[in-house]
Amino acid sequence: MLFLGIDVGTGGTRAVLIDALGKGVASQSTGHAPFRSDFAGWAEQDPEDWWRAAQQSIRAVLAAASCTPSDVAAIGLTGQMHGAVLLDADGKVLRPSLIWCDTRSAPQCDWLHATLGRERVIEQTCNPALPNFTLTKILWVREHEPQVFARIAHVLCPKDYVRFRMSGAYATDVQEASGTLLLDVTQRRWSPEMAEASGVSLDWLPELFESAEICATLDETAAAATGLLAGIPIVAGAGDQGAGAVGMGILKPGSVSATIGTSGVVFAATDQPVRDPLGRLHTFCHAVAGRWHVMGVTQAAGLSLRWFRDVVGAGIQGEQASYEQLMALAAEAPAGSDGVFWAPYLFGERTPHLDPEVRAAFVGLSASHGQKHLARAVLEGVAYSLRDTFTLFAELGIPILNVRLGGGGARSPLWRQIQADVYGRAVEFLAAEEGAAYGAALLAGVGVGAWSNVDTACESSIQIAGQIGPEPAARFEYDQSYQTYRRIYPALVSLRTSR
Ligand code: XUL
Repeated sequence: MLFLGIDVGTGGTRAVLIDALGKGVASQSTGHAPFRSDFAGWAEQDPEDWWRAAQQSIRAVLAAASCTPSDVAAIGLTGQMHGAVLLDADGKVLRPSLIWCDTRSAPQCDWLHATLGRERVIEQTCNPALPNFTLTKILWVREHEPQVFARIAHVLCPKDYVRFRMSGAYATDVQEASGTLLLDVTQRRWSPEMAEASGVSLDWLPELFESAEICATLDETAAAATGLLAGIPIVAGAGDQGAGAVGMGILKPGSVSATIGTSGVVFAATDQPVRDPLGRLHTFCHAVAGRWHVMGVTQAAGLSLRWFRDVVGAGIQGEQASYEQLMALAAEAPAGSDGVFWAPYLFGERTPHLDPEVRAAFVGLSASHGQKHLARAVLEGVAYSLRDTFTLFAELGIPILNVRLGGGGARSPLWRQIQADVYGRAVEFLAAEEGAAYGAALLAGVGVGAWSNVDTACESSIQIAGQIGPEPAARFEYDQSYQTYRRIYPALVSLRTSR
């Protein structure tokens, strides 16, 4: 018996098969076309491209596992959160999706706060309006493309669109729905007040489920397109941060993860909806029924390194450096990069600044610095930015018993060590780190009763591969440098341009 997890990410869609012991059997990924960013702060993707990549990855993972389609007992979905997929009454995509890192809807956030009051928005949804959240993207369309808005009949998030293509079902889970700004996160149900204030019909919103609940089955067309059997149950799943937390076993208070994917997230499980009164952390339903989580998000974490590789690492006409080459280069520079800093605000910043308009910068350059300093400064700048969330956790008394690393930041030994040194804490890394797709596959297994609940699934499946602690000298250096890093943001605000 196998469980299939599908992660509709930003860069690509991954399909992972695990067995009934929670062991990875095969994993395959298919790239997406890069997102379009016609103006600063804009990011759009074509939902059809996600479905194309999902079909390809599913076919590839079935081939890689050399299994028969009847071995696959359930499917779990996860993916990039917050994107607005707008469909007409026939289920046709009305325009490209404004995805999570698109921040054009800052004026619509101001409008919502002015209309309902910022405190009321936080009371209803546990979060302030941010341009990343789905509702504010819908409001942008209402204002700028009224002809599109007039035809909306369904609103879905990215992975839920792939589910729709697999089954015809309009469904989502409460963890994903928390990132729409349309959910009453405390009660785990849609908020009529948020919808009504925004001109959004509750009929447009998909049916809500807990993450491990079965909400659909694979239809004949999708079975033919993927090589799977029609009728396989599909569980609700969760947004990539929720499913990623399941995949890393971050389920109970005290468990914390730091994940560097395209974005960077520090995530803590809670047994109540714990709120930051200033709204700097997101408070969402967890992918486990009856639990919640808080998280701080760095907009451009892995994205900083990719940008650096593509734009700076390529030289003028040179070969593009690989990530391995960049890591080796960065390792040649000392902790603190001899005074060079990277402020990773390529797409503005969420935690702790909630500022979609601030822009990124290298700071502290002199003629003696070379590429190695820049490469290391990027890794350090992302880690400082994640440390900002640890600082908020301390301020709000959110307990931290253990920290697990995930994503690209967990795979590179150098980035792991930089994180341990910058956070000033021991960090754990896992044996099989397939991230969110793995968590979605575990949720699928729970959905069909292979494990009695998510806690049991994680306890019997997840293995810690190792732990590293901070090196005292580097930790001291980073404690000092972090204080300097904190002074860069206010300086950048004072330099803000309108472009
Ligand atoms: C979470 C977030 C990102 C996206 C893309 O709030 O915006 O993590 O889900 O990975």
